[in-house]
Amino acid sequence: MARITRILVPMLLLGSMNLMADDKEAPKFTGGDLKKYWTDACARCHGATGNGRDANGKQLPDAGFDFTEARKANKKKDADWVKVTLEGKDKMPAFKGKMTEADVQKMITEVLRKFAAR
Ligand code: HEC
Repeated sequence: MARITRILVPMLLLGSMNLMADDKEAPKFTGGDLKKYWTDACARCHGATGNGRDANGKQLPDAGFDFTEARKANKKKDADWVKVTLEGKDKMPAFKGKMTEADVQKMITEVLRKFAAR
């Protein structure tokens, strides 16, 4: 019993520290459809189509960036977007506890870059 406590308590502490930096409302990405993950985890701030607006076209308060603005989006580097997504920035929550770096990179190519390409 004592030994298991010595293992479990630090694990719980580390776990809760990790959660503090996370977006608590977002589910973990466990594989599958990255477009769906955008809808589940990112759209409430960035909008379903990446333009920072809700279904009625109203500007969302915490969008931060319009991914459909090709001219601006094309100036951004994938590596910087990976970093912001994993580590967070201001109101942008960190997703490093929810997604792997490889999945974030894949999401940028398959979802975020396509918002501007339409
Ligand atoms: C709680 C609201 C919120 C959620 C949820 C959220 N974001 Fe953000 N995001 C922001 C804000 C605000 C910024 C602007 C941060 C800044 O530059 O100050 C931002 C910035 C970004 C940027 C950098 C854009 C730039 O300025 O170049 C990327 C990339 C990004 N978010 C991707 C994502 C992805 C992918 C998800 C889902 C996995 C997500 N965000 C979920 C609020 C959010």
